[in-house]
Amino acid sequence: MSEKDMDKIVSLCKRRGFIFPSSEIYGGLASTWDYGPLGAEFKRNLKDSWWKAVVHKRDDIEGLDAAILMHPKTWKASGHVDGFTDALVDCKNCKKRFRIDHLPGEGDFKKCPECKADINLKETPPRLFNLMLKTFLGPVEDEGAVSYLRPETAQGIFVNFLNVINSRHRKLPFGIAQIGKSFRNEITPGNFTFRTREFEQMEIEYFVSPEDSQQWYEKWVQERFEWYLNLGIKKEKLRLRVHAQNELAHYAKACTDIEYLFPFGWSELEGIANRGDFDLKQHADLSAKDLTYFDQAKNKRFLPYVIEPSGGVDRAALAFLVDAYREEEVNGTIRIVLGLDKKLIPYKVAVLPLLKNRADIVEMAKKICDSLKNKTVVKYDDTAAIGKLYRRQDEIGTLYCVTVDVQSLEDNRVTVRERDSMQQERIETSILEKYLTDKLA
Ligand code: GAP
Repeated sequence: MSEKDMDKIVSLCKRRGFIFPSSEIYGGLASTWDYGPLGAEFKRNLKDSWWKAVVHKRDDIEGLDAAILMHPKTWKASGHVDGFTDALVDCKNCKKRFRIDHLPGEGDFKKCPECKADINLKETPPRLFNLMLKTFLGPVEDEGAVSYLRPETAQGIFVNFLNVINSRHRKLPFGIAQIGKSFRNEITPGNFTFRTREFEQMEIEYFVSPEDSQQWYEKWVQERFEWYLNLGIKKEKLRLRVHAQNELAHYAKACTDIEYLFPFGWSELEGIANRGDFDLKQHADLSAKDLTYFDQAKNKRFLPYVIEPSGGVDRAALAFLVDAYREEEVNGTIRIVLGLDKKLIPYKVAVLPLLKNRADIVEMAKKICDSLKNKTVVKYDDTAAIGKLYRRQDEIGTLYCVTVDVQSLEDNRVTVRERDSMQQERIETSILEKYLTDKLA
C-alpha cells in the first residue's frame, strides 16, 4: 500500500460514513475526527472484542471506568507534570514551532522543515513544552483550580488499585482493564487518525509479584500479538519491536511494541511494558497511603510489579481498516471490499428488495429485516438498484445480503449473497434466521 492508498481509505471513510473531519461545516479542526454511523458501530465492535478477550473471557481481570478528570497530584506522582514534555524549537523566520527531533540538520545547525530557513540552536535553544491539556475546575481560573485532561487511562487504574483489591478480594496475579478517552497536546499530529490530540486507549495494568514479572511480560506480549491476528490482521503486516535500553520510558524495565505496516511505514499500535513498582510507589509516596500487598503464602508485604499492555483504539481501528481494504476486478469493473472480520463489521446482514416499487416485495423484505433484528445487526436498504446496493454493502464490509424478489413471494425463498465469494444461495425464509446466526456465530 502506498500513500495514495491511504487517501483511498480516508475517502472511503468519508463516503461511507466511517470517519468525518470534526466540525467540518466550520472548516474542520486540524487532526480531529468524528466517527460516523458506520465508524461508531465498528469502533464499538472493536472495543467489545477487546473487552470480551481481556475481561469477560478471563478470571483474572476486572473492568473499570474511571473519570477523565483526576486529582492534580496524580500527574505529579505519575511524572507527567515534570516529564511529559517535548523539546520544541521556534523558527524565527516563519514563526512556527517544531519538535527538535523532527528538524533536519547537524548539531546546532538545523533547517526549518516549513520555510527552509536556517535555525541556530545556540540562538533559539529548545524549550520544554508539556503535552498535557490543561483546564480549570470551578468558577475561578487560577493556579489552585488547574486540572488536566488525562493523558493516559492507566493512572485511573493505579489510584483505584486498593478499591478493586478490597471490593473484589483479589489475589496476585490479577489485572484491571479500562477503555477511555485520553488527551495529549501533540505537536505533530497526523496520518489521519493515527496521531491525534483526543484519542481512546484500551489499557490493562496487570499486577504480579516481582519475581514473576518477566514471565508475565512475555506472556502478555504473545497474548496481545495474537489478539490482532485472531481478528484477521495479516501476519506479514504485524511485528514485535523490542525497545532498546536507551529508548525505555523512565518507568519501564522492559517494553515491546506491536507494530503494523501502515502505508506510511511500520508504526506502533500497542506497547507492552514492565513498569516495575514505579507507579504504586509514586502514588503511595504522594498520597501517604499504604499500597503494599500482603502475600499470605509467602507471609510478606511488597509493592506489586505491573505489566501494562497499552493500546490505542483509533490506531487499532485504522490498522484493521487499512488491512481489510481491497480492490478486485469483477467483469471489467473494480469492486471495493472491506474484508473485515465478522466480529468487527458494522452491519452483519443487509436486506434488499429487488424491486423497490413493488409494495408486496418491500413488505416481505421489511418483515424479514424486522425478524432478524433480535438476532443480529441488520439493515434494510432500497436506495438504489440491486447491483449498486451490493457494491455499497461490500464497501462497508456487510457479510450477507438477503434479497427478496418476485419468486420469493411464491416460494418463500430468498437469495443470500456472501461478501467475499459473492456466491448466492436460495434459502427458505423459515430457516433463514438459523442459517445466518450459525454463519455469524
Ligand atoms: N500508559 C502507557 C501509555 O499511555 P503510550 O505508548 O504513550 O503509553 C499507548 O500510549 C498507546 O496509546 C499507543 O500505543 C497508541 O496506540 C495510543 N496513542 C498514544 N498517543 C496517541 C495519539 N496521540 N493518538 C492516537 N493514539 C495514541
